[in-house]
Amino acid sequence: MKYAVFSDIHSNYEALQVCLKKMQDLKVDGYAFCGDLIGYGPNPEECTRALMYLKNFVGVMGNHDICLFEKEFSRWFSEYANLAMVFTLKNLSSKSKKFISQFLTVYNGEHFSMVHGSFTDPYRDYLLTPEQFILNLPKWQGNVCFVGHSHVPFIMSYREGHIPQVDVFYGRDVTIKLMPGVRYMINPGSVGQPRDANNMASFGIFDTTKNTFRLLRLPYDIKAVQTKIEAQKLPQILSDRLPKGV
Ligand SMILES: [Fe+2]
Repeated sequence: MKYAVFSDIHSNYEALQVCLKKMQDLKVDGYAFCGDLIGYGPNPEECTRALMYLKNFVGVMGNHDICLFEKEFSRWFSEYANLAMVFTLKNLSSKSKKFISQFLTVYNGEHFSMVHGSFTDPYRDYLLTPEQFILNLPKWQGNVCFVGHSHVPFIMSYREGHIPQVDVFYGRDVTIKLMPGVRYMINPGSVGQPRDANNMASFGIFDTTKNTFRLLRLPYDIKAVQTKIEAQKLPQILSDRLPKGV
């Protein structure tokens, strides 16, 4: 099986379209989405409709997605995230809300596990350190799991009895061979709002036959998204950060 692994679209339709096109060119068999489909960006409805009909799609809910249904999670939001959520609630159909409501909190499947933040706190934890990685290890099964939330692509690996290793992905197209007996926690980065000082959309391909994870970075029309953000009078920071990748 070849899975497209992607996260943190944040209503950025231009970035999503470029990534979906590449996923389809690469003939993926399934789609694993690590959460935060909506929030921040100008096209929540279009992005949701784009995922709705994908074959073999599994998604987990992000901290922005859950706010559509449980308002108390927005207590930890910045002011601009809250303003974007008001916009999202006004611009999302009931059909799209229903689709997002079916996302899981945690996924444990045959080939991988998946959660948005971490298994210890699915909607709030930013999984960034080896210590957090160790705390999470007993909470998921198998050798590969995917997370989102930080918007930074990384790979943590752990072989029993060794110190966990944390690596970030550099370059536009990097393939990592996953070794037997090693457990991996992988963040595919963000489709719609990268925060690793690289403004290109980020996603990965997990090939269970070759046992590889490939990370790709793709340019998209940032200017078009900025124009929409500004036309909708969403907070200026949401436009300004996109070209900087922060
Ligand atoms: Fe996010």
